[in-house]
Amino acid sequence: MGKAELIGMLNKALEFEHAARVQYLSHAKIAAGRDSEPIVKRLEEIAGDEEKHEGLFRDCLEILDATPSMGIEKVYSANGTDEILKVNLKGEKEAVDFYRKIVEELKKSRDELPYEYEFIEHKVRHVIMDEEEHILEIKNIL
Ligand SMILES: [Fe+2]
Ligand SMILES: [Fe+2]
Repeated sequence: MGKAELIGMLNKALEFEHAARVQYLSHAKIAAGRDSEPIVKRLEEIAGDEEKHEGLFRDCLEILDATPSMGIEKVYSANGTDEILKVNLKGEKEAVDFYRKIVEELKKSRDELPYEYEFIEHKVRHVIMDEEEHILEIKNIL
């Protein structure tokens, strides 16, 4: 446990963000039908946030002298607007659950990271806050 475990988790988080961006952009192209325009716009906006999250996790890996992963987590297809929203709502919740585990892991490494701790904690919490906003936004259109 400790720093190595934390690096592994941050890289998995980065792979989650790669997958989220790709999934939202693809779903934005297949979301069709009456009144789908605001939903498409929202999916594209969220994809933009996921791209920013990739950058935040890469910054965390950089301060730990770790190489950022170029891998991607599993992506899920969906048919129709309702399914798209449900699939992504589930993904957002899983992301929040996992990122909270990163915060817990980070606490265990506090003594090992005297000049990196707040930097990483702030960025991970920022991402969690954004994902909670995504959950709210998706719930509001469902
Ligand atoms: Fe994200
Ligand atoms: Fe998100």
